[in-house]
Amino acid sequence: MGTPSEPKRLVVGISGASCANLAIRLLEAMREQSGWETHLVVTEGARRTLEHETSCTLEAVAALATHAHDLRNIGASIASGTFRTEGMVVIPCSMKTVAGIAHGYSENLLLRAADVTLKERRKLVLLARETPLSLVHLKNMVELATMGVVIMPPVLTAYQGAGTVEAMENHLVGKVMSEFGMEFSKFRRWKG
Ligand SMILES: Cc1cc2nc3c(=O)[nH]c(=O)nc-3n(C[C@H](O)[C@H](O)[C@H](O)COP(=O)(O)O)c2cc1C
Repeated sequence: MGTPSEPKRLVVGISGASCANLAIRLLEAMREQSGWETHLVVTEGARRTLEHETSCTLEAVAALATHAHDLRNIGASIASGTFRTEGMVVIPCSMKTVAGIAHGYSENLLLRAADVTLKERRKLVLLARETPLSLVHLKNMVELATMGVVIMPPVLTAYQGAGTVEAMENHLVGKVMSEFGMEFSKFRRWKG
C-alpha cells in the first residue's frame, strides 16, 4: 500500500523468545529489497536474548533497520494507524507478547504497533516460539488466528536441502517475506 512517493513499510518487532538470530536474518534480507523500509522495535526481553544468543549488539541490530524506534515511545509513527504500513512481523514472538497482542494490552510500542496492525486490518505475522505450549499459550494463539493473524512458529525444516541452521533460518525468513509479497534470494520454493 506504499504510494509512488512513499516506500512500502514493514514493522519488525523483536521480543524475548529464543531464536533471536531470525530477526537479524530478516533485517539483513530486507536490506536487499528495494522499495521497502523497515521499522524496528525491540523489547527488553529481546535485549536479553540478542545478547545471550547472538554476537550482535543491540546497536548493530538497530543499524540493520531503516528506522529503529524506542520501546517506550508510544508517540512513534508506528503507534498510529494513519502511518501507512504493509503490516507487521514479530520475530521471534514470546508468549508474553502473544498474550499482550491477543488481549489488547498495549503497554509498550511493540504491543501498540501490533494493536494498530490489527485494528487497521493489516497483516500481522507472529513467529510465536515456546515449547511445550501450555493451554494458555494455545488459547491465546487461537484467539489471534481467529482475528486473521498468521501464527508461524519457527519450526525445523529438513526438506529443500535445509540441513543447516542457517538454511532453516533463511527458509523461515523467506516464508515471512512471502507473506508480504516479497521474494528472498535464499528461499527456494517447492516445485515437487
Ligand atoms: C535466553 C532466554 C530464552 C527465552 N526463550 C523464550 C521462549 O522461547 N519463549 C517465550 O515465550 N519466552 C522466552 N523467554 C522468556 C521471555 O524473555 C520473558 O517472558 C519476557 O518477559 C518476555 O517479554 P517480551 O515479550 O516483552 O520480550 C526467554 C528468556 C530468556 C532469558
